[in-house]
Amino acid sequence: MKYFDYRFFVVAAALALAGCGDAPTATDSQADKVEWPTIASPVKADPATDQKVASLLAKMSVEEKVGQIMQVEIQHISPEEVKTYHIGSVLNGGGSLPNRNKYAAPGEWLAMADAFYDASMDTSDGGLAIPIIWGSDAVHGHNNVIGATLFPHNIGLGAANNPELLRQIGAVTALEMRVTGIDWTFAPTLAVAQDDRWGRAYESYSENPEIVQAYGRAMVEGVQGVPGTPDFLDVDHVVSTAKHFIADGGTEGGDDQGDAKIPEQELLDIHAAGYKGALAAGVQTAMASFSSWNGQKLHGSKYLLTDVLKGQMGFEGFIVGDWNGHGQVPGCTNESCASAINAGLDMFMAIEEWRDLYKNTLDQVHSGEISMARLDDAVSRILRVKIRAGLFEKGRPSDRGVAGQDGIIGQPEHRAVARQAVRESLVLLKNNGGLLPLNPSATVLVAGDGADNIGKQSGGWTITWQGTGNVNSDFPGATSIFDGIRDAVAEVGGTAVLSVDGSYDTKPDVAVVVFGEEPYAEGQGDIDTVEFEPGNKKSLALLKQLKADGIPVVSVFLSGRPLWVNPELNASDAFVAAWLPGSEGEGVADVLVADAEGNPRHDFKGRLSFSWPANPLQGKLNLHDEGYAPLFPFGHGLTYADTDTVVGMLPEDVVGVAAASGGDLDLFVGRPMSPWRLFVASDQSSQVISGYYAQVPGGTMTAELVDKDIQADAVKVNWLSDGNGAFFMGDAPAMDLSDHAEAGAALRFDLRVDSFDATDASLSVRCGEACTRSLDIDEFLRASTGKGWATVAVPLACLSEDAADFETLLEPFRFGVTGKASMAFANIGVVKATETVDWCDPGAGSVPAN
Ligand code: BGC
Ligand code: BGC
Repeated sequence: MKYFDYRFFVVAAALALAGCGDAPTATDSQADKVEWPTIASPVKADPATDQKVASLLAKMSVEEKVGQIMQVEIQHISPEEVKTYHIGSVLNGGGSLPNRNKYAAPGEWLAMADAFYDASMDTSDGGLAIPIIWGSDAVHGHNNVIGATLFPHNIGLGAANNPELLRQIGAVTALEMRVTGIDWTFAPTLAVAQDDRWGRAYESYSENPEIVQAYGRAMVEGVQGVPGTPDFLDVDHVVSTAKHFIADGGTEGGDDQGDAKIPEQELLDIHAAGYKGALAAGVQTAMASFSSWNGQKLHGSKYLLTDVLKGQMGFEGFIVGDWNGHGQVPGCTNESCASAINAGLDMFMAIEEWRDLYKNTLDQVHSGEISMARLDDAVSRILRVKIRAGLFEKGRPSDRGVAGQDGIIGQPEHRAVARQAVRESLVLLKNNGGLLPLNPSATVLVAGDGADNIGKQSGGWTITWQGTGNVNSDFPGATSIFDGIRDAVAEVGGTAVLSVDGSYDTKPDVAVVVFGEEPYAEGQGDIDTVEFEPGNKKSLALLKQLKADGIPVVSVFLSGRPLWVNPELNASDAFVAAWLPGSEGEGVADVLVADAEGNPRHDFKGRLSFSWPANPLQGKLNLHDEGYAPLFPFGHGLTYADTDTVVGMLPEDVVGVAAASGGDLDLFVGRPMSPWRLFVASDQSSQVISGYYAQVPGGTMTAELVDKDIQADAVKVNWLSDGNGAFFMGDAPAMDLSDHAEAGAALRFDLRVDSFDATDASLSVRCGEACTRSLDIDEFLRASTGKGWATVAVPLACLSEDAADFETLLEPFRFGVTGKASMAFANIGVVKATETVDWCDPGAGSVPAN
């Protein structure tokens, strides 16, 4: 692969986009000032708008202005408070749903949107009527809403490399949002991910700035409509966000929220590409990145937010913060951060601490720490966007356009666009013997834990933030990959049989194995190397088992990034990178299954938008690298027309391969590990913890995500009554841990006991419908109260000395309490004991966690 000069085309493209004569001069020396291109906004300045902004501003009190620059998470504010504090915006975080109801119908969203709007327009206390704007992460369709059309995640769209399709996806997403009364999406993500270990690599279209630039423009035009046409921000479109400014995808080691230690020229050449596209499309908002550039947090970077983005690049929309991102600026807290506003942030994204933040910001304006001019500028920018979005004229959310027409959510025309995107995103990496397309009359065994698993095929940011805790029935109208294969094969006279574990009665002609990464979002998805299933090659075992029976194997690999899979490639005759296709699983069969004559119904169109690694240490592997040596280069992808589709045996003994883990088993690490789900339960009923917050019916127990090492990697459980309550993992096929028990393994978890006023507590496993083995732990909990995090290891032998008791575990972790208590849990797993333990006192096994 030859060296590719990004700088050349980026400059050329910027010139073309800006349509202006003053060429940005790219300089080679870092000491020279980098000149950022000015991207002329296609949204024409409008004197009437400016006048309206000025006249509103003149009438606003300081309190109203400070309220206007606050965005608050919906779980933490009521409409009444929106009115009292004149709040400018609300958001719902991933998995944060109206009334904390996972199954909230579109009408519930809409009613909430109306309630917030009404509050913002209520002038009974003498305030001004300024319509509120609601932002939501519709990052692959309107993904917080049950039944919505879910598109492939961005990495798959990048492989499709079809900007026109992106435009359609943007428009569909906007329309589905409109049904629920939401005005603003926090999308697209314009990260140009350079290190695939990053947990958000799948939110990036490509490692190549060229694709991100074209897509940034197309997606924003799809979401907002094209400026200068009647579509622009009409009732069918919503406001778009270019995020996360800047170099979120350039952090060292692919560390989420980390530091991009790169020269400014690289910021411009690689990471600014998407912003050039988005600004050229007239994007109205940008989100500051959690990450830093050379040690400085973006939320506090006046240079990048004000001088570069608003100044040199000419962005005239407003900059919103990211989830308490201001609190990470040195000298700031979630409750106070004048320096972020002074750096150029126009709107705080605030969570539970917003009241203090409001009060402190107000004080800072009064004291002059934040100048009135800066506040007025922030407010003007927000008002301008609200006016352009027509919020002052469109009436209540439920009165706008398609609002309330629930049938539009997930309607067939929308699913057809998503299905096309699935087809076009598939990348064929191996097709030995022309195994694909599948012969129409074949008997096809469809195996693997991703075969009939819509949650897994949809990845993170799917109903819940992490995308975990979902089951197929949570996706009405969607199809799994198996559904599609079954229907396509049946249509042409063959048969497809689902068998997740690969067992069969009649030997099939071919097996399609669907496997890959478990869903994750943000830092929870950060990994150390790009090896797939390091230390525990479960999927490989399944492939080998089928191969050993002489069955040709087609692998359909679900992942949020390219991963090192040489062993899995070797064990497959054909291999398809399917990324995270979303709700239209049948798009896979469109390409994999032949027509009645045996001809392909659709050819492969996807080409790698990320380079594929040749060893686990190639997390940072990009086209422009010196010594670029991928397994499959950027742009690679086979088609049915190719004659040379054979991939020979690949080396498996390469640098960086993890040693076999010896059977350590993660149950909850930042998110529940599949197939487990987390629950809180009273004696009467239980509730899955599938997102941000869960509550047992009747309110006797609640659970919410809290931070331990990274954001939201722990679960805090509150026992609120004098009765019994349990926190447990379950709802999965029985698991055999008898070998672990024999080998002396321990149940390990991090625990923080915040309060304990209970009479009883036990740690137990459920070893069958009527089998429980437990250990009393109330004394230990009492003694641990208020002492912070500790790591607890309880040998399985302390629960039962009979290893056979662990043969059919239904619940590997159950924490039962009688009475009131509040505790947080993290990093739950079963680990091989490193030393022999002959005690059964969890206290003795505990060591302080970091
Ligand atoms: C993410 C953003 C997202 C925001 C609101 C943050 O944690 O980084 O991408 O828009 O939360 O959910
Ligand atoms: C996500 C939210 C999520 C929250 C949980 C944020 O980073 O963006 O959507 O609900 O973390 O703490």
